[in-house]
This record gives sequence, structure tokens and C-alpha cells, in this order.
Amino acid sequence: MKAAITLVALSFSATALHAFSPTPAVLQQQHSIRSASSSVLQLRATAESSSSDVTKDTSSTCRRSFLVGASGTVAAVALSLQQPALAADDTKKQPICVIGCNGRTGTEVVKYLIAKNEPIKATSRTGEYNDAASVPAGAMLEQLVCDVTDPKSVNLACAGTSAVIFAASASKSGGTPSAVDNAGLVNVAKACMDANVPHLVVVSSGAVTKPSSPVYQFLNLFGNIMEEKVKGEDAVRKLYAEHNANLGEGGQKLTYTIIRPGGLTLDPPRGVAAIELNQGDTKSGRLARADVAQLCVESLNYPHLTGETTFECYDADTGAPLATVGLSNIAKKKTDGEVFVSGFERRGNTYEELFTGLQKDA
Ligand SMILES: NC(=O)c1ccc[n+]([C@@H]2O[C@H](COP(=O)([O-])OP(=O)(O)OC[C@H]3O[C@@H](n4cnc5c(N)ncnc54)[C@H](OP(=O)(O)O)[C@@H]3O)[C@@H](O)[C@H]2O)c1
Repeated sequence: MKAAITLVALSFSATALHAFSPTPAVLQQQHSIRSASSSVLQLRATAESSSSDVTKDTSSTCRRSFLVGASGTVAAVALSLQQPALAADDTKKQPICVIGCNGRTGTEVVKYLIAKNEPIKATSRTGEYNDAASVPAGAMLEQLVCDVTDPKSVNLACAGTSAVIFAASASKSGGTPSAVDNAGLVNVAKACMDANVPHLVVVSSGAVTKPSSPVYQFLNLFGNIMEEKVKGEDAVRKLYAEHNANLGEGGQKLTYTIIRPGGLTLDPPRGVAAIELNQGDTKSGRLARADVAQLCVESLNYPHLTGETTFECYDADTGAPLATVGLSNIAKKKTDGEVFVSGFERRGNTYEELFTGLQKDA
């Protein structure tokens, strides 16, 4: 059993060199889907809460608080007072909701959003963001309870946001893969539709569609997690296809992106140029959670390229076919010199280049 656990911990890694043919960047103006519409959530809330360091509104289903920045003032206040250089438009942005903000990937997503000066709804089962101590003054970060097995809390979390990033997964006390990675994800997708959230990004996993691969077989021993993840993915693709095919008058087209990482590390990010994307679930590798976080956030900036897509991601120099990726990850092998080309690889020196040419889901 010990050996098995060690194998799990290491299994999702990779080998293989792949020649790739980067697609020439299409020069398109960056589209931000984040709406500058009605929500002034953070600043309005700030004004209401500026008399105390932390304001908490505890109701039956929702606990909400605003983080204290390093200066000891409410973070959102700090934004308005200390960063007058921000464009007026920025203050109108609706926040990006992070589901599972205390997970290892979720935390990296929050950090990257903070670095990008984005307003954030950081949600977790407890309603507290664990890394609050490192949130700088000036960050606009709201903390909220969201348990994906509880549709009420999911609805509150998703409402009034410009995008939702789903980084939750089964945990000992949070629920089984069936409850979290499948049904919980479906709850989130439905809430996004009810609230007209323009973009949902889902962190899933490489190999979920390949039950005969060693990686799938091994990981699936843990509560059928691979099986449940692909069921959740399938449901998301179906829900969005149905929604967009049946838009009533004034109905809004909504989109999603499903990201399937290889074996995740806690290494520092290597950046866009190190990453390879693939489609078809034939190849994987390993990469830093911090790079997955960047992919999640950056995919929101290019909905015309990433919308309705599902793709795998890993560091290009770790990429390997699914049949051998577990072993090459265990050995922390680099794959330079080996050749496996799926034909669907994507590389780029910018996120726009990286995402250009992704094929839409059928
Ligand atoms: N590990 C790998 O190598 C690997 C490889 C490929 C893909 N992935 C996938 O990548 C994703 C991120 O992985 P990770 O290792 O960064 O995640 P993680 O650290 O395990 O975080 C998962 C988070 O989900 C939260 N959660 C559990 N039940 C929840 C519920 N009912 N409602 C809301 N949140 C809930 C957990 O919170 P609590 O702790 O409070 O329950 C935890 O913060 C996962 O989907 C994982 O399967 C992982």
C-alpha cells in the first residue's frame, strides 16, 4: 500500500520530446470579457465597511468578509485611496470567483489574480482565505463561503461575477469525487448560467478520457476520481451547448474552458514559453500549479480562443504519451530527444499565441 501511495504521488509526470509547430500568432486585440457594467461590489462594500478592520456579514447561508491589507485598513479601501492611478473602468469590474481558494492550485490562482490587480471573490468551505496574511494592501479580495455540494452557497458565490474558476476537488471532509468533481462542478456550471457569468474555467486532469492508460487506472483507485471528473466535464460541455443553442430573446452566450493538467508540482512558475497544450488526451507531463493558475486566469482574456475548448497542459520538456507518462514523471525525466507528436500541440511566447488554434469542443 505504501508503494502504491508513493506511486500515486509521483505518477502523474512525464517524458517525451515533441517537436511542435507553433502557430503564428494572430494579432487580435485582447478581449476582456470582464464587464464594466453595474457591479461596484468591492468599492461600495468598502464604503460600508470602512469603519472596522474586517467586516463580516454573517447570515444563514453566506459569510462574507473583506480582507485586511498589510496597512491595517480594509483592502478595498486601500485600493481606492492608495492607487488613484487605476483607470476608472477598473473599479467597475465584477470580481472573478475562485472556487476552492485554499487548495494548492486555488491559492495560486488567487495570488496571480492579486498580482494582476483583479477583484476577487475567494471562496472556500470555511469562508476564510488561508493565505490572508500575504494579501497586500490594495488588493480587492472578498472572502465567501462556498461548498460546491450546497447549491445555495454556490449560487451566492457565482452571482455578480465576471468569471468563475473551479479549482475544487474531493477532500476528506469536503466530499467524494462524485459529490465534488462531478455533482459539485455541475452545481457551479448551473449557477454560472443562472447568473449569466460569461466564462467558467474548470481545472480537471489529464487522462480522464483514457481508462486504459496506467495513469487513469492508478488514480481512479481513489474514489473513481477520474471517472467522476470526466462525467463532470461532459455535463459542463452539454449544459453550455444546450444553453447556447437555446438562447431566448436577449439571452447571453456563455462559455467555458476545461483545463487538464499533468502531474502538479509546487515549483515556481516557469511561464508561458515553457508550457505545451495538447488536445485529444493523448499526452501529458508535469507542471507547476502556479503555471496552471496563470493558464486559468489568462484564458479569461481570450474567450474567442479558449471558449468551448478542452485542452491538456504540461511543461513541454516533460511531455510524454499517456502510456509512459507515469513512469517518466516518477523519474522526473525531461523528454528532450524523444519523439512523440500528437499533432495537436500548441506552444507560444505569449498566452495569445499559446491559445491560438485550439480546437473547439464538438
Ligand atoms: N495532484 C496532481 O498531480 C493533479 C494532476 C492533475 C490534475 N489535478 C487536479 O487539479 C485540481 C487541483 O488540484 P490541487 O492538488 O491543487 O487541489 P487541492 O490542493 O487538493 O485542493 C482542492 C480544494 O478543494 C476544496 N474542496 C473540497 N471539497 C469541497 C467542497 N465541497 N466545496 C468547495 N471546495 C471543496 C478543498 O478544500 P478542503 O480542504 O477545505 O476540503 C481544497 O481546498 C484537482 O481537480 C486535481 O484533481 C491534480
